[in-house]
Amino acid sequence: MELFFSEQKIVGEVVVPGDKSISHRAAMLAAVASGETTIHHFLFSEDCLATLTCLRQLGVPIKQVGESVVVEGVGWDGFKQPNDMLHVGNSGTTIRLLIGLLAGTSLTTSLTGDESIAGRPMKRVTVPLQQMGASVTGKDGGNHVPLTIQGSELQGIHYVLPIASAQVKSAVMLAGLQAEGETTVVEPVLTRDHTELMIQQFGGQVTRMGNEVRVLGKQKLYGCDITVPGDISSAAFWLVAAAIVPNSEVTVHNVGLNPTRSGIVDVLRQMGADIQVEITQSVGEVIGNVTVKSSALRATTIDGAIIPRLIDELPIIALLATQAEGTTIIRDAAEMRVKETDRIACTTESLQQLGANIIATEDGFVIEGKTELTGGQVNSYGDHRIGMMLAIASLIVKEPVFLENSEAVAVSYPNFFATLKELVC
Ligand code: S3P
Repeated sequence: MELFFSEQKIVGEVVVPGDKSISHRAAMLAAVASGETTIHHFLFSEDCLATLTCLRQLGVPIKQVGESVVVEGVGWDGFKQPNDMLHVGNSGTTIRLLIGLLAGTSLTTSLTGDESIAGRPMKRVTVPLQQMGASVTGKDGGNHVPLTIQGSELQGIHYVLPIASAQVKSAVMLAGLQAEGETTVVEPVLTRDHTELMIQQFGGQVTRMGNEVRVLGKQKLYGCDITVPGDISSAAFWLVAAAIVPNSEVTVHNVGLNPTRSGIVDVLRQMGADIQVEITQSVGEVIGNVTVKSSALRATTIDGAIIPRLIDELPIIALLATQAEGTTIIRDAAEMRVKETDRIACTTESLQQLGANIIATEDGFVIEGKTELTGGQVNSYGDHRIGMMLAIASLIVKEPVFLENSEAVAVSYPNFFATLKELVC
């Protein structure tokens, strides 16, 4: 795809699609709840559709009604033995959370995914589930797909997460809800808490003390009405675009601002962006409107506890840093290497191709700004977030950018290019 905007600005109001993490969790909890759940503003992207397909294969009645999804919950014992392997496509959240759901059933299920999923580590999830009593086998000692899970009666555990991962925390909690006794998960650093909030929305009980989350086993969940907030990880592309493209101004409405996800807002502030936040819902999932206008930006250091709060935004933050005066250092983000792609390598390589002064470190980047970027041939490497970052980069170059594998954006933001066209003027 050729992207060429020759010094245009971006101006407008946007409602971004539903949050990816929350859409997955809503569909999965709805499936094991009793009664009907309606999910409004569900994200109809490839990843979340993969979750719906897998749940349907497990015998869960799901229909689309307008922009909503209606799930007929089958309860914890209601999954049916699927005829085929479950295929999660590109979605790490689908596979890791689903393994947690399946661990306590009486089924034997096999799961696989695309080439990217084939390279992603699964032991982080299978190890605690095995400790709870599930049997999980797979390639490389259960570290890679295809995986086969033989569910069984589970026992609650006390699990100290070796890495900060919301997917692993969630998988253990979902298994814990089915187990005998109590399950506690201790996180090294607070990660997104959508599973905790959503279990409560479905009538379940979760308690938190500091970095420890506790769920009691054998809890029944009840269908409910859910409205998914806009995805801050999708909004991040427009917020950064408004910050770096001269004379721009964008407002994103009804976007999720859960403090465990809103690190991008803190970073924009830290870097001197002109940003206004208006909170419209402060109970449960925090929601609000965010406006960014272009302004001069300064470099910053991003590390430690903020990293999980913006882990998926680091490619677009790297682009932001190329437009800030000074040296931006991003560290403690080695988890980027095991995302849809090795995002440290792919971000560095593609931004270097556009003339950025960025080097990769083991666990992040060092970026010198401010640099005038150039056009050129780049590739999303099949990673939706790298693709969208490069499309935003094309807004500040004076020559065309040729983006290969641009279709990858459909994993989380199918209308991304249509919205881009609407905002450019
Ligand atoms: C997610 C958690 C994060 C994030 C991913 C979605 C989730 O992954 O990068 O895009 O929905 O729980 P990790 O749990 O691997 O950090």
